[in-house]
Amino acid sequence: MNIKKIAAAALTAVMGFGLVACGSTATTSSTTTTGGATTTAAAGATTTTASGSTSGSFTTAEKGVLHVATNAAFPPYESTTDDGGFTGIDIDLANAIADKLGLTVTVDNMDFGSIVAAVSGGKSDIGMAGMSVTDERKKSVDFTDTYANSKQVIIVTEDSDIQTPDDLSKADKIGCQEGTTGYMYCSDTPENGGYGEDHVIAYNNGIIAVQALLAGKVDAVVIDEQPAKEYVKSNPGTKILDAAFTDEDYAICVSKNNPELREAVNNALNELKADGTVQQIIDKYITAD
Ligand code: ARG
Repeated sequence: MNIKKIAAAALTAVMGFGLVACGSTATTSSTTTTGGATTTAAAGATTTTASGSTSGSFTTAEKGVLHVATNAAFPPYESTTDDGGFTGIDIDLANAIADKLGLTVTVDNMDFGSIVAAVSGGKSDIGMAGMSVTDERKKSVDFTDTYANSKQVIIVTEDSDIQTPDDLSKADKIGCQEGTTGYMYCSDTPENGGYGEDHVIAYNNGIIAVQALLAGKVDAVVIDEQPAKEYVKSNPGTKILDAAFTDEDYAICVSKNNPELREAVNNALNELKADGTVQQIIDKYITAD
């Protein structure tokens, strides 16, 4: 199968495969009041009127706070620091957005596969996790405009027989991060361009997947390009294959019950794109190679 075909199949896989359990209805009330002052609304939610240049009223789960759901094992988008904090593109961008909305960020660190449910259920206000926009996820949450592009790449050991995406069909086991587009793509049936569930092992995060590669438990790891570069940098003996597949867009997810917040976050994001802040944040963490 050639690469184009693989990419097309991957998109089909992304669109056709269930990522998160559907049917999780949001329970948080998102009553919104108009007017300038911060007002307590129903079910513990609060309404804030954006400060700065971003206008409009919106509701967050906790007064004055933007709860950001992420999975902080995905550098350079998000990772933990030695002192127990969080760093990365998504963290800086979340802070810049929160600033514009007159909020402070609280990071809710969790398994990647739990983020959509945390946001759709209203526990977290937004999800920022290098999350690719997929039709399947759109059934559960809304997305802002996109702020980055990515692709899935293949990591192998330096001496590997696997040299092209086609060779992945020879792999006994492929390692992925659970709940990700890489997992969906690889675990799909061969008819749909995947390699079949039996050939895929889902790890809790990409770091563990790369450790499994070095330990010989999997023959390759399929994961997003920028994290792959970071993992390879810190794991000598591994490399990224030149040929990649799938183009994906990262965006911020917001509860479908909170269109006012999506609007406010999206406006803030677009202001930060227009004034160059988004690019500055990306350049801080990703240097041209
Ligand atoms: N872009 C991929 C997806 O949306 C992987 C994202 C994983 N993110 C993370 N923070 N672990 O499925």
